[in-house]
Amino acid sequence: MRMRRKRNLDSFLTQYPDLLYILDKPCQNVVEALKHKSYLPLKEIFGKDKVELEIGCGKGAFICEKAKRNPDKAYLAVEVSKNVIVEACKLARAENVKNVRFLNCAAEILPCFLPENSVERIYLNFSCPFPKYTYASHRLTSRRFLETYKMYMCQGAEIHQKTDNMHFFEFSLEEYSACNFGIKNVSLDLHASDFEDNIVTEYEKRFTDLGMPIYRVEAFLKE
Ligand SMILES: C[S@@+](CC[C@H](N)C(=O)[O-])C[C@H]1O[C@@H](n2cnc3c(N)ncnc32)[C@H](O)[C@@H]1O
Repeated sequence: MRMRRKRNLDSFLTQYPDLLYILDKPCQNVVEALKHKSYLPLKEIFGKDKVELEIGCGKGAFICEKAKRNPDKAYLAVEVSKNVIVEACKLARAENVKNVRFLNCAAEILPCFLPENSVERIYLNFSCPFPKYTYASHRLTSRRFLETYKMYMCQGAEIHQKTDNMHFFEFSLEEYSACNFGIKNVSLDLHASDFEDNIVTEYEKRFTDLGMPIYRVEAFLKE
């Protein structure tokens, strides 16, 4: 379901200078982005040089809860839609979450903002499955994206993925393997498993309410 563009969206966005980073001039692809590196000063922002990253954070319920449960960690949440990220900022402000920041950009250009070895973990929660095969390279677990994640993941870093879509899940497992990631803790029905500490995302709630199983995997960079 598409959200309608909010009226006065730009003025809403300016209400969160402490939480939200917005690009002045969005650039569209990684080659272009790498020519204009502008690393976020993570140490200055969080007092740490490593973060956990959520890509496609939606309205921010997952990352805000994660940050509240882990106050010693630093969280960066990325979302391409301004309309949606403004809701995430609103939530973080309302819940007074101190250790999270938001970045409004496409995942494609993250190497422009994140230095090497700066990301300990990536969360991909219910990323768009792009069911048509011709759009496979748009999936956030396609090898095109996995290779860009490696540019900022640190040694031992992991990707934690959840999805309701079995075909997308199978595709992701193949892509992890093709890009030399190992996989562990695979679940074909997360909610029936003994996995503890799950944080239910907005989309996850919709799918579980419909009785659909949730697929989950942890992928890690091999030595
Ligand atoms: C299906 S929603 C899931 C939202 C949330 N993670 C959840 O589980 O409820 C996927 C989100 O990813 C965002 N998204 C899709 N492609 C993206 C990209 N290339 N870079 C950043 N965000 C993206 C979309 O705007 C959307 O908000």
